[in-house]
Amino acid sequence: RTVYVNGDYLPEHEARISVFDRGFLMADGVYEVTSVLDGKLIDFAGHCTRLARSLTELEMTNPHSDDEWLAIHRALVAQNGIADGMVYLQVTRGNPGDRDFAYPAADLPPTVVLFTQAKPGLADSPAAKTGWKVISVPDVRWGRRDIKTVQLLYPSMAKMAAKKAGVDDAWLVEDGFVTEGTSNNAYIVKGNKIITRALSHDILHGITRAAVLRFAVEAQMEVEERNFTIAEAQSADEAFITSASAFVMPVVEVDGTAIGNGTVGRVATRMREIYLDEMR
Ligand code: PDD
Repeated sequence: RTVYVNGDYLPEHEARISVFDRGFLMADGVYEVTSVLDGKLIDFAGHCTRLARSLTELEMTNPHSDDEWLAIHRALVAQNGIADGMVYLQVTRGNPGDRDFAYPAADLPPTVVLFTQAKPGLADSPAAKTGWKVISVPDVRWGRRDIKTVQLLYPSMAKMAAKKAGVDDAWLVEDGFVTEGTSNNAYIVKGNKIITRALSHDILHGITRAAVLRFAVEAQMEVEERNFTIAEAQSADEAFITSASAFVMPVVEVDGTAIGNGTVGRVATRMREIYLDEMR
């Protein structure tokens, strides 16, 4: 595989990052994941806008213009012959030469890494036909989940708890309400209404979320941005999640309780179709 590191396209075994990089020592960095379908980047502009915001929130300078980011993404997709898959992008605060809690000088060059992962048949995932089962776990992450940082230890632990429980993902719960999934935004459906938590510092502002809610309104669905509980999800007609890598994925069970009749719902299926049709 060819990867990108600080301006160079290299075979992955030749890529080098300092042991003093703040991304490595402090999880001091941000990332984006953009899906590729048929060689095309999905909703690239949205990911670029969020990247810029994450960097600003952490007082880091964006090392590239949107056009430069696009050129790097396209070059990697081409060099790795990616038809279906994803591009991962990470910007860390770089290597100040020593370990120190205080940020280094603002003009320290950031470390920029991109790589691709091939996922043949990404849009035809069989899971979309059967749906995900999820468990709930407490949300003990930090208070700025709107910044897409690389500190993903707790979401990884939650994903492992789900795996051990024999299900697909975990929904994180804070003060009695679902915040989001380990790496996706969470929704329930009641009749013609799609309900999802409002944007705040509590959740990541999903790029897929923004697109799906826009398409839902265009398709004459009602959208309500508010908190919901696990109990409300269990008694809802349907549930689903969205992310750049799973698109729209139906959820059919929460904490062992089937949602609706326990099969993939009509609204989730329709929103997945609309999303894929519009974005490809
Ligand atoms: N995860 N919430 C969290 C905590 C996430 O990590 C993600 C994305 C989302 C969905 O955002 P988007 O629609 O922009 O992908 C919500 C990516 C896919 C990941 O970490 O792999």
